[in-house]
Amino acid sequence: MGDQDGGHVQCDHSKGKGNPVAHPEMDDALMQKEEWSLDDWVEMYEKVPFNKNQGGPSKELVKYIKALLPSEPARVFVPLCGKSPDMRWLYERGNTVVGVEGVEMPVKEFFESHSDLKHTVEDVSFGKVYKVGNSFRCWTICRERDGDRQSINTKYPTINPNIHQYPSHHFTILLLPQSHDERLQVYVCDFTQIPKGSLGHFDAGFDWGAYTAIRPADRPKYVEVVKDAMGENFRYFLEVCHDGPPDALGLPHSISFRTLKLDFGIKSINQSSGVSLNVWVLATKDISAEWEVDTFFNSFLLLSDKDF
Ligand SMILES: C[S@@+](CC[C@H](N)C(=O)[O-])C[C@H]1O[C@@H](n2cnc3c(N)ncnc32)[C@H](O)[C@@H]1O
Repeated sequence: MGDQDGGHVQCDHSKGKGNPVAHPEMDDALMQKEEWSLDDWVEMYEKVPFNKNQGGPSKELVKYIKALLPSEPARVFVPLCGKSPDMRWLYERGNTVVGVEGVEMPVKEFFESHSDLKHTVEDVSFGKVYKVGNSFRCWTICRERDGDRQSINTKYPTINPNIHQYPSHHFTILLLPQSHDERLQVYVCDFTQIPKGSLGHFDAGFDWGAYTAIRPADRPKYVEVVKDAMGENFRYFLEVCHDGPPDALGLPHSISFRTLKLDFGIKSINQSSGVSLNVWVLATKDISAEWEVDTFFNSFLLLSDKDF
């Protein structure tokens, strides 16, 4: 299945769509493929023209941020991140953000679009990692009112480093340390080849167009890597498409809640032992009309090892 919006390489985040974009440059054979290998993704990225526009965050990330991250700053994992603007948005809020992407081109493009994020590139045993890091101290300035945090400037190197919070009549100004501490990292590697324990542990994950895009045969390994990366008391946002026509081809995959439950090990009634996850369905949207099919739905879930 292909989406018609132009602009973004794969996902229109600000409109809440998590699907590959059908560009005129894409041939139908690729768009109809059920199993996209990394070579297919390379082909897709090579064909779609680069758009330097940074783009906005996913509507649902903004909407459900408090449910995903009850406490910030946190360590957030973004699997199969492409060049998602969600990484920048999460980072601007003071969080540590680690993305993983199998194709280098979108990662390079991410850093070209965000040219103020000075970064280094290092080899690791399973690929390479782009790390944002500056040798001088700089700050993200945010304003916060009623729990709603907004970045109002990205750099302000000369600010007094001893004052991190400025209350004012209407909102609180927060100064969050930036870059210095490598708070944004993007690994370029095959997700299924990440050795156990190599990414550390995260408070949260943001899965947008990722579980629905990975090759079905790789899903068990994908879930294994995700679960290995989650720390205790984690929250994992999962965007999933389901109940599409049984004969529909291409991405995003339509994945039943049954498959999802079996893959992630979500708690069953009467289940008394073993590690199992709790699920909270945040919302379900009917996306049949926009995909021009009789049925297709998009649900946003939170998974956790603890009760909500
Ligand atoms: C639909 S895109 C979603 C990108 C991103 N999550 C977003 O919201 O913009 C799926 C991404 O998964 C990447 N990908 C697919 N299989 C992968 C694998 N085995 N390892 C790492 N990345 C992979 C693709 O290169 C592509 O960038």
